[in-house]
Order: sequence, then structure tokens, then C-alpha cells
Amino acid sequence: MTPIRRDLLPDTATIDESGRLAIGGCDVIELAAEYGTPLFIYDEEHLRARCRQAAAGFPGGVAYATKAFLCGAMAQLAYEEGLDLDVATGGELQIALHAGVPADRLVFHGNNKSPAELKMALDAGVKRIVVDNFDEMDRLEAMSPDGPGAKVLVRVNPAVEAHTHEYLRTGVADSKFGFALEGGVAAAAVARARASVAMDFVGLHAHIGSQVYATSSFARTLEVLAAFARQSEADELSIGGGLGVAYVGDEQAPSISEWAATVREAAASLGITARITAEPGRSIVAGAAVTAYSVGVIKRIAGVRTYVAVDGGMSDNPRPVLYGSGYEAFLARRTDADRELPVRVVGKHCESGDVIVAEAMIPEDTLVGDVLVTPVTGAYGHSMGSNYNMVLRPPVVFAKHGAARLVVRRETYSDLLRRDLHG
Ligand code: LLP
Repeated sequence: MTPIRRDLLPDTATIDESGRLAIGGCDVIELAAEYGTPLFIYDEEHLRARCRQAAAGFPGGVAYATKAFLCGAMAQLAYEEGLDLDVATGGELQIALHAGVPADRLVFHGNNKSPAELKMALDAGVKRIVVDNFDEMDRLEAMSPDGPGAKVLVRVNPAVEAHTHEYLRTGVADSKFGFALEGGVAAAAVARARASVAMDFVGLHAHIGSQVYATSSFARTLEVLAAFARQSEADELSIGGGLGVAYVGDEQAPSISEWAATVREAAASLGITARITAEPGRSIVAGAAVTAYSVGVIKRIAGVRTYVAVDGGMSDNPRPVLYGSGYEAFLARRTDADRELPVRVVGKHCESGDVIVAEAMIPEDTLVGDVLVTPVTGAYGHSMGSNYNMVLRPPVVFAKHGAARLVVRRETYSDLLRRDLHG
């Protein structure tokens, strides 16, 4: 099998004459030695470039969906690049505020916001609350019986089927998210928001799902929403996030600019006058990072398969287990090498399902101690990581212009012990 596709690597990735990989001018094997493995390495320029593309593509405004990857440095970076931030829990809100992002740059989401979370968001003064259901409206009204009205977007379920994994699909009729357009539910929600002193209705929001390659699905969403947006006199219309990225060799994804152009053209041709905004997560961060692991065990089972066990697993990347997602793997010291050895890359957790790459091809001379890299791990890896088996969560570095800065340190055993109140 051919070497790793260059466009699956971060923008600034380089490969030297001997085949060694550098990201942001930093040698990956040296980073692995300095910070240990597993290690998330983000290309800071790649992150900034994607933020700028999004900001340019959606002049009406963009909120980076922090659920894809959040730490203080990322919050700050997105803010610096002119994006708002979508936070969907009190925790995400806290990280963003702590990073110095002004509350009026935060869009607060969630299908079951607690009264405490709503209070936190209202007290901070977030830019928008995206209201998902009538119970949330009850809570907002109970909290501000005399106003002032929080600026709200009403989340609409447009029932547009996005072609993606069932768990990543949100816009179908059978969904826990939003008010159905069908049956006048969304219209009732807008009417209530408009009439309420606790809410200042600004516009509509729709998110059809994640890892969507077909930009036509987003155009279709606008088509479905156009008349309703007009009737409800929405000033703002968020198309949500969901643009897919390529993870493995045969996948191709539209760029953020292409996605934005399709959305802008659809809005124009439908005569939508509301400001169009978007909420990308994955497409900003996924391709910006790689994970560096160390190979600990190579187990050849005659006539069956070869297992390559690395020092992380489903605790730093649960996506293969959750969604059957595919990844590629290669050696940091032989980035441009042909990959002829079929293996299954697994982690160190105590279950057979702990798979990182089910059908990987890696160089034949792979050895114990090698730094094995999986690209396109910048979205929903670190953010969905866990402490399963009391494994310590990996650190995150941002690499740029030959320097790496540690933005999240590795978890320690004392971090684990801190919350355990025994004795
Ligand atoms: N806006 C809303 C309201 C969302 O629910 C999401 C993602 C986004 C924006 C950002 O979507 P993105 O551009 O990242 O696709 N854990 C799954 C993805 C779950 C997405 C949840 N919501 C995965 O690893 O593929």
C-alpha cells in the first residue's frame, strides 16, 4: 500500500530526506520523546487557517463548535481569529470564559440545559441562547419573569436527512433536538419566544448532523427553512455545523470555503434575507492534529492476524469503537514509506473492542518502540477521551514555527486520586 496521503497530514507537515515527520517545524519523534506518548500534536497554523476560511466564508458570523476540541488555548485561538464559540454545557462555558473569551462571543447550546447552566449563561451575558424545547422556555421565564429578554435562536428540526452515521444524524424527524418544523411546533416556539419578556427572538438554528460530505444537504436545509425564516421574520439563520472531513485514503471532503459558497449561493437564490451563520467543529480541528503513540507489542498470530498494541486506545480515540470510524496509521520515522504489513492497531484497554485502526497497513519493518502516528485525530478524540482503566489522559501540544507549547498537560496519578475521597 502506498504511503500516507499528504493531504491527510496537517498543513505544515514536512517529511525530511530520511522520512521523518515534522509538524509546525517540530520533529514528531522529538516531541514524543519530550512530552511522552500518547500525544496530541496540533498544527497551530492549520487551525488558524481553517478559522480564517470559516470567517471569510460566512461573513454573517461563525461559532466554533467547541465540543470537537476544547482547551483554553483553542478557545483563545478561535476567538483571536474572529470566531464566536458554541458551548453546549456549563463546563464548555467555564473553559471558554476562563480562557478570556468575552461572554458576548458565546453561543449557548444544549438539549437539556439545567437551571444552573442557564443561570450561568444569563449571568455571564452570552451572545445567544439556542432554545431547544418548551421546558427550557419555562425555565427561562421562571428565571426572568420581568426580563430582560435573553437573545435567543429557536432550534428547528428541519427533518433533512444527512448522509452520515445514525448517531451523528440530528435533523431527522425522530430526534431529541429542536422543535419540529412539521405540525407547527417550531412556529409555536417562535410565537412564544416573541411574546415572552424572558426571550428576545433573534432567529433560527438548524443542525442536520455531523461528518456530512454532501454540501447539497445544507442547501436543502435552507430550502426547507426559507419560508419559515421569512414568516418568523428571523434576522439570523444558523446552518449549524457538520461538514465532513477525509479520514482515510479514499475519502474526499469539500473545503470549508466550498461548503460556505454552496450555503451562500443557496441562501441568495432562495431570497433569504436573514444573516447566515454557521457552527463548524470538526472541519476546523480534525485535520489539524495527529496522535503519536509508541508501539509496545507486536503480536503475530499465525494464520490469523498481527496485532500492534500502542500505549493509548479507546480512551484517547473512542470513535472507532463508537462509530466504526476508520483511520490510517504510519511510522513517524518513515512517513513516506510504502505500507505493506496488514495489522490491527489496538490500545491497552482491557477489552477486545479497543481498536484504533481495524485494518491498518504499516511498514514491514515496524518495531517495538516505534512512534506510530494516526492523522486526522483533532476532532472528538481529546474531547471524548476518558479515564477508562484509570488510564491517564494525554497531553496536547500546539506546534508552530519550530516551537511547541504544551497547552494541556498529561494527567497524573494524583489527578486521579484527587477526586477519590476514600480515607
Ligand atoms: N452545532 C451543533 C448544534 C452540534 O450539535 C454540533 C455537533 C456541531 C455544531 C458541530 O458539528 P461538526 O462540525 O463538528 O460536525 N462525536 C461525533 C460527532 C458528534 C457531533 C455532535 N454535534 C464524532 O466523533 O463524529
